[in-house]
Amino acid sequence: MGRSMLLLLWCASIASSLAPGLKLLALAQQNPGFISIDYGAPNDYHDDQLDIYYEDDTRFVDSGTNMQVSTRVIYQNNLQQSKNLRIFPNGKRNCYTLMPDKGKGNTYLVRASFSYGNYDGKNQTPAFDLHIDVNYWNTVNSSSWISKEIFYTPPRDYIQVCLVNTGSGVPFISALELQLMDNSIYQINSGALVTNWRYNLGSLNIYRHPEDVCDRIWNSETYSGGLSSVSNTTAIATSTSNDAYKVPPEVLMTATQAQNVTDPLSLYWTSDNSTIVWYVYFHFVELQLQNGQFRELTMYVQDTFVKTVMLENLKPVTVASLPISGHNLNLTISATARSSLPPLLNAVEFFTVAQLPNSPTFLDDFNAMYDINKTYEVIRASWQGDPCIPIQYSWNGLNCSSDSSPRIISLNLSSSGLKGLIATSISNLTAVVSLDLSNNSLTGSVPDFLAQMPSLKVLNLSGNNLNGSVPQTLLKKTTDGSLLLSLDGNPNLCQSDNCQTSNVQPKKKGISIAPIIASVAAALVLILVGALAVLWIIKRRQIQNVTTTTTATNSTRGESTGTLRLSKNQLFTSTEITRITDNFGTIIGEGGFGKVYLGRLDNGTKVAVKMLSRSSKQGYKEFHAEAQLLTVVHHRNLVSLIGYCEEFENMALIYEFMSNGNVRQHLSAHNPNVLSWSQRLQIAVDAAQGLEYLHNGCKPPIIHRDLKTPNILLNENMQAKICDFGLSKAFVREQDSYISTCPAGTPGYLDPEFHILGHSSQKSDIYSFGIVLFELITGHPAIIRSPEGIMHILQWVTPLIERGDIQSIADPRLNGQFNIGSVWKVVEIAMACVPTNAVERADMNHVLSELKECLTVEISSGRSQRMGNSERRSEFDTTTMELDSPPYAR
Ligand SMILES: *[C@@H]1O[C@H](CO)[C@@H](O)[C@H](O)[C@H]1NC(C)=O
Ligand SMILES: *[C@@H]1O[C@H](CO)[C@@H](O)[C@H](O)[C@H]1NC(C)=O
Ligand SMILES: *[C@@H]1O[C@H](CO)[C@@H](O)[C@H](O)[C@H]1NC(C)=O
Ligand SMILES: *[C@@H]1O[C@H](CO)[C@@H](O)[C@H](O)[C@H]1NC(C)=O
Ligand SMILES: *[C@@H]1O[C@H](CO)[C@@H](O)[C@H](O)[C@H]1NC(C)=O
Ligand SMILES: *[C@@H]1O[C@H](CO)[C@@H](O)[C@H](O)[C@H]1NC(C)=O
Ligand SMILES: *[C@@H]1O[C@H](CO)[C@@H](O)[C@H](O)[C@H]1NC(C)=O
Ligand SMILES: *[C@@H]1O[C@H](CO)[C@@H](O)[C@H](O)[C@H]1NC(C)=O
Ligand SMILES: *[C@@H]1O[C@H](CO)[C@@H](O)[C@H](O)[C@H]1NC(C)=O
Repeated sequence: MGRSMLLLLWCASIASSLAPGLKLLALAQQNPGFISIDYGAPNDYHDDQLDIYYEDDTRFVDSGTNMQVSTRVIYQNNLQQSKNLRIFPNGKRNCYTLMPDKGKGNTYLVRASFSYGNYDGKNQTPAFDLHIDVNYWNTVNSSSWISKEIFYTPPRDYIQVCLVNTGSGVPFISALELQLMDNSIYQINSGALVTNWRYNLGSLNIYRHPEDVCDRIWNSETYSGGLSSVSNTTAIATSTSNDAYKVPPEVLMTATQAQNVTDPLSLYWTSDNSTIVWYVYFHFVELQLQNGQFRELTMYVQDTFVKTVMLENLKPVTVASLPISGHNLNLTISATARSSLPPLLNAVEFFTVAQLPNSPTFLDDFNAMYDINKTYEVIRASWQGDPCIPIQYSWNGLNCSSDSSPRIISLNLSSSGLKGLIATSISNLTAVVSLDLSNNSLTGSVPDFLAQMPSLKVLNLSGNNLNGSVPQTLLKKTTDGSLLLSLDGNPNLCQSDNCQTSNVQPKKKGISIAPIIASVAAALVLILVGALAVLWIIKRRQIQNVTTTTTATNSTRGESTGTLRLSKNQLFTSTEITRITDNFGTIIGEGGFGKVYLGRLDNGTKVAVKMLSRSSKQGYKEFHAEAQLLTVVHHRNLVSLIGYCEEFENMALIYEFMSNGNVRQHLSAHNPNVLSWSQRLQIAVDAAQGLEYLHNGCKPPIIHRDLKTPNILLNENMQAKICDFGLSKAFVREQDSYISTCPAGTPGYLDPEFHILGHSSQKSDIYSFGIVLFELITGHPAIIRSPEGIMHILQWVTPLIERGDIQSIADPRLNGQFNIGSVWKVVEIAMACVPTNAVERADMNHVLSELKECLTVEISSGRSQRMGNSERRSEFDTTTMELDSPPYAR
């Protein structure tokens, strides 16, 4: 599947977030078998480097708080997933429930990742435990990015990953990933494999998705000391896809090899805890077999014979060790006596075993408790994960039996603010002996099912608002002494034996008025139904307006819950606009479309209110649809349109407020705060990401048509966001409104082919983006006005580029504080954007990835001011737990 296709699907999936179930389905289609969650991320996104769709956590969490790692460390690790996190200051145990498509009995790779990043400024790394379902999995205690990985076969259709506060700091999580594995691999008799190390031997490269379809992370390891690295890139062009382990060809094509056929290849490691059980998985493929040669290897683990294998050319072989334990662990691979080639090893994995001694709560009880929690919205910090297990974290207000799959034997929800009827799911708690629902606001009748609960001995319903009569069956159990029943304090509940008759009494008396009441009620119902129908039609119309103009609307934001609510919130009245802007008190800008005012929403959020004239050619419906569309396009590098108002003669658009103004202002010679080179690069990458999203992330693609530095705004963190996208289509700028064939865009940024094409395309935006890059490099505006006359920035810069005079090209205000190579690279990228011939221009994908590379180099060269001087870590950093020192070779 092509990348653009994937992005398309991504968009579709975000659109379907209106219906959470659909979203899940769509995501599953993009990375089949994957669930990937980036905690704290501002939105769902596609990680281009990993080719994985990450969802933000909105759908998965309702406890905890989102945080961002310290800006000092944010650029130390390139992984987007490491930049935000979710913390859990409340409750001893907080859990996420994952629902993998294939359900129970299948093996999944579950990986939780953590990046403390000094988010709280305390520089104190928290330590806490990680549980998978009801069992201990690992302990997290690392100041840098770390991942914990387990091959887990869940006993139920859900997998719960829990963070347990052990008193050593606030638990947090950065990312959670799940991948479906082939059920024939990584299987052991009991417990689950926890990854300690996974090495791509003889290589300096780290691989994961997309090279590894299962997204295992293969760290690089090159052993020396009698061992050498070998590789054969041609050998591995062949596919390894029919091998169940699917070790990526990139990993297999390098290996570590002993120098002499008689030398063994040995690895040693130590274990802190000699009772821990280890498994080692060896991955081999023959890379170098020549005619008449032959390689046969014997593996020993702990000097106990494991296995002999003969390697055939290009055929991958995986050998799993037997379980081993001990303090000093050794593994040796030797060539057999008849082998003509020395031992080699292409990749290796070391696992320890997580024993999984606990079983979850009996399923009916589990489901009933979840239903009760949902029905009554019982907000209790301890109601997370499994109700009974582990015992020390069981839910408040219940007691469980000690069965291997525990049953709930008592439930006390006294004084818990319960409202509504007595939930029928309670009837499924068939082992409950004592049920206390006293002192709540329960209404309705006392249900008959309570009498059918086989184990129930104590039932307390006092202090509620129950009515009607008490079921005979229940009263009978009370009188024969098998049930202790309390019903006091329910004023409308009839407890006497003869209340059935007395209850009916008023009805008999009221015979004459009953039909009248009934008919009045019926009329009311009719009126109500009619009103609802009218509302429904109106709302349908609104929905249709959106969907018909934008076919499966591209990029609704995950948070938006339903078009109806959305449109209501977005549509502002003129009175509201006047109030928000404090009667148009503060002008913060004036653009081609009209004046921009500072506003403040009722919740205090600052907004920018843009007043503009609607094109006379634009009908109401088009305006409405267009504005609606723009309010659902959300990306971290696009200024969000929060709402709009169409009551004025001039329309109003309400935007997210960007406190640091626009990029043009910052580049202007009058601005005392000079943007550094790395800040400019960051702005370029931000803007490129926004534009790339409009082009490739939305269907149909959104063409900006008026991209320029005044339209790139900066927030309080100097994060750049593009604004005014999509407006050219819906509105006409004031100065253009008399020109009948007005081209969209601004002189200086306008695609020279526009007049030929007669319409804008993505390539027109690319041209404008190239001009933006040149402005960032040179500091000059697109149209340079000097005493000598007016000149286009390209006219000015092209001769300098031809001369190779980078010092003159770069903004003098940078004061030489830049890496020449880096500036050259951006000049090259900008040049690739501006060929006169549109087809020769680069596309946004390419531009973005080149710019990102520049930024990475800039940051790692230590020039960036946003970085601390702390040690740099590799892209994926350590994958594993640091329980023991990693294997070494001898
Ligand atoms: C976390 O790691 C540090 C350093 O290795 C150690 O001193 C500390 O005791 C650990 N904390 C816990 C709770 O394991
Ligand atoms: C391999 O080992 C044998 C025996 O130890 C030795 O004679 C031979 O020179 C070694 N070959 C190489 C290439 O080191
Ligand atoms: C050693 O590992 C075993 C099994 O994983 C565990 O039960 C035991 O508590 C560990 N001992 C220590 C000292 O960590
Ligand atoms: C690489 O593999 C190919 C195909 O098996 C083989 O023909 C070639 O000799 C190998 N090259 C080396 C340097 O071993
Ligand atoms: C493993 O290697 C260490 C160090 O060489 C050695 O002391 C130990 O006896 C070996 N253990 C086994 C079980 O062979
Ligand atoms: C119980 O309900 C509350 C409130 O609706 C929710 O936050 C919590 O996640 C629920 N607990 C479980 C275990 O589902
Ligand atoms: C659970 O058992 C403990 C100890 O027997 C008891 O004190 C507590 O009241 C029980 N809780 C419920 C909800 O019955
Ligand atoms: C339930 O809890 C309340 C206090 O919250 C206590 O007074 C009551 O005795 C408990 N009921 C049972 C049956 O244990
Ligand atoms: C009770 O359990 C049965 C069987 O597991 C299930 O089908 C039913 O939906 C449950 N009822 C309630 C009200 O939870």
